[in-house]
Amino acid sequence: MQPVAAPLDLATLYPGSVSKPSQPDVVVMLCRDCCCGTTKKHPRTDHEEQQLALEAAAADNPAVELRIVDCLDECDRSNVAVIRRPSAARKDRDTWLGGLLIPSATEALADWVRDGAQGLPPRIEAHVFRHLPPRKKR
Ligand code: FES
Repeated sequence: MQPVAAPLDLATLYPGSVSKPSQPDVVVMLCRDCCCGTTKKHPRTDHEEQQLALEAAAADNPAVELRIVDCLDECDRSNVAVIRRPSAARKDRDTWLGGLLIPSATEALADWVRDGAQGLPPRIEAHVFRHLPPRKKR
């Protein structure tokens, strides 16, 4: 009978080479495309300032990642952002925010990110809407 070799894993072969991928607790997806973030559609909004404020807030909280994303197919509600909790149950995973056009809304979202991103910021509850995914073609 031949001896059975113990299985080797990558961590044994290359110590330090395998790391657990880190997943943020919260991802804020900020739409920047044809309608969100454009002065063409929303000339009175400082879109750059909005993005900078959210980037700065996310930089202050390592549990939150800000992602700039393309059109989320909710252009009528621009500027749109989605708060995603990757580890939450599907029904609780995404919170959609629309009409983020005034500085106080950006400030509320940035403060919430900085303050731990727990629950939902009361100051922007009025921006929450129910996103209905597009129907699948049959
Ligand atoms: S450009 Fe933001 S939803 Fe379409």
